[in-house]
Amino acid sequence: MPVAELRRVTKRYGAIEALRGIDLRIDRGELLALLGPNGAGKTTAVRILLGLAKADSGTAAVFGCPPASQEAKLRRGALLQVAKVPETLRVREHIELFSSYYPKPLALSETIRAAGLGGVENRLFGDLSGGQKQRVLFALAICGNPDLLFLDEPTVGLDVEARRALWGHIRGFVGRGGSVLLTTHHMEEADALANRVAVINQGRIIAEGTPADIKARTAQTGLEDAFLELLKEDAMEEVA
Ligand SMILES: Nc1ncnc2c1ncn2[C@@H]1O[C@H](COP(=O)(O)OP(=O)(O)OP(=O)(O)O)[C@@H](O)[C@H]1O
Ligand SMILES: [Mg+2]
Repeated sequence: MPVAELRRVTKRYGAIEALRGIDLRIDRGELLALLGPNGAGKTTAVRILLGLAKADSGTAAVFGCPPASQEAKLRRGALLQVAKVPETLRVREHIELFSSYYPKPLALSETIRAAGLGGVENRLFGDLSGGQKQRVLFALAICGNPDLLFLDEPTVGLDVEARRALWGHIRGFVGRGGSVLLTTHHMEEADALANRVAVINQGRIIAEGTPADIKARTAQTGLEDAFLELLKEDAMEEVA
């Protein structure tokens, strides 16, 4: 059984077809990078798997359950692109509150260490720098000790050291059998972390495979060039 799955999912916002029948599957111990240009449908797919949006047609399942079910919620963590977090709570209070929702949370000290928040635990969220806020969002995603992580552009605004530290943490999580759906615009990040890559363009999956498969398919040596090549091919097919 896949850890998370979308089957023939469509989602429309008025005239915009955000998802035009996508299949996506994440297995245990695997990091799937969902890559695509702005507006391709990545966050929409993540929101459906989190139960925050409903598919118009097709099915979504997480651990074999509906995404909005308690079973699914207790076993997943998420870092969303535009997360609203009260500004007037302290870092430590946020983590304690979030941890309390889960049956087997990480120890507070472990979450703080893993997210690189040592030294700012007692600061108000509203007073943090952009990168520090992003680290808090990562802490809230992992504090419940989930089996599945949704990371929607998790390294935006992080300095180089923090980004590498977060990569290390993600690798460790996957190494222990965790599963991750990652979206990113950094191809280097996808190449460094992903077991599998799915490229989405205008609501459709246009390529899927290991980073090596994707490069081989386009005869490119770098994932970024391969990605651009796939988008160009897709645009030409659209015209044809
Ligand atoms: N709540 C909404 N109401 C109306 N349109 C929406 C809504 N959410 C998403 N869309 C539209 O659906 C399409 C897909 O958006 P989505 O956020 O999934 O893209 P994305 O791949 O995550 O892009 P980005 O890389 O910029 O984060 C876009 O055209 C967007 O404007
Ligand atoms: Mg997005």
